[in-house]
Amino acid sequence: MSFQRILQHPKLQQLLQFLPNLQSGPLIGLDIGSSNVKLVHLAEKDGEFTLEHYALAELDPDAIVDGAVMDASQVADTIRSLFTETKVPTKKVAISVAGNSVIVKKINLPIMDEDELGAAIAVEAEQYIPFEISDVHLDFHIMDNDSRPAPEGQMPVLLVAAKKDRVSEMIAMVEEAGASVVVVDVDAFGLENIFCANYGAGDPIVGLVNIGATVININVLVDGVSAFTRDISMGGSRYTEEIQKSLNISFMEAERAKCGEAIEGIDEDRVLAIVQDTNGEVAAEIGRTFDYFRSTVQSQQVSRVYLSGGGAKASGLVEQVADRLGIPVELFNPFANLHIAKGIDPEVLKQDAPFLGVAAGLATRRLAD
Ligand SMILES: Nc1ncnc2c1ncn2[C@@H]1O[C@H](COP(=O)(O)OP(=O)(O)OP(=O)(O)O)[C@@H](O)[C@H]1O
Ligand SMILES: [Mg+2]
Repeated sequence: MSFQRILQHPKLQQLLQFLPNLQSGPLIGLDIGSSNVKLVHLAEKDGEFTLEHYALAELDPDAIVDGAVMDASQVADTIRSLFTETKVPTKKVAISVAGNSVIVKKINLPIMDEDELGAAIAVEAEQYIPFEISDVHLDFHIMDNDSRPAPEGQMPVLLVAAKKDRVSEMIAMVEEAGASVVVVDVDAFGLENIFCANYGAGDPIVGLVNIGATVININVLVDGVSAFTRDISMGGSRYTEEIQKSLNISFMEAERAKCGEAIEGIDEDRVLAIVQDTNGEVAAEIGRTFDYFRSTVQSQQVSRVYLSGGGAKASGLVEQVADRLGIPVELFNPFANLHIAKGIDPEVLKQDAPFLGVAAGLATRRLAD
């Protein structure tokens, strides 16, 4: 893995009352999405990972609405049930933030060392962050190996600002479930870490796209290093809402119909047509992001795209994104080159794997990172 971060700046660790004993050891990856909570435990030996445990559980649609937690107790209960189900050896977790609660920006700053930047970051960040600086946790990473070097006398810095209220809310839910948060990462970086754990740098320019229920995380890697990230407010719920509206059925029925279940009185061809239309919208949105990347960030084209997230399972989406982008697109398997513990059924894992990219990436983090 090329590049470890985020929200782990010593100051932030104090702020979050991080554990004082930073010995190395596994962390449990916990991806709290608006539709599903995912838990992954990876063991590491000689630099190789083994998937030891995983579990996922659906949340009621009213538990987290548009990224806002409406029923924290339900989320905490769900987290607790995942720990009970998997019996993982630790309750220290890495979580992540995404969407409009986090801003990731690459900026150029005068050359200085980590400590100097630590002292200056709040002032430097002010002009780049559309929130009150006192309302966000700030973190940064000096990008030594960036694909686009900074102008003379400057250095490229990855700046991350996560809304404090959002982070606190997530930590509180994890604590209510009897676990403790040690690392707060960003969805897009979790995805990057698990991609690199599988493929190293991969192709020269790869696009990682995670399609959740309400957010699409995009991370473009150049030689294995993030060159561009963007979160789009769109996802699997768009399909469900369209089906619900058009066929005048409940959200849950629409959800089941979308996933290919036969429902009495519902014309499957109409469902499929809505799925295809929505695939077109999602593909167009992803396409626009890659067009933007090519025109403003890097003149070269992304050569391969990996889709993950539950939303990537929408019938025909992989093909429609490939059509729109004109490059190879495949479903990402976050465990393609990892060892798998004996107790895990490969057939069930195959179905679940698209959901688990972010949680698996979070599970690559170690206490001492
Ligand atoms: N077989 C399927 N076909 C189409 N969509 C599916 C399928 N299975 C799950 N989904 C959709 O995947 C989405 C959930 O995926 P995921 O668990 O990755 O999202 P999330 O992390 O909870 O959401 P977010 O990150 O946006 O808050 C839901 O919209 C769900 O309807
Ligand atoms: Mg998600």
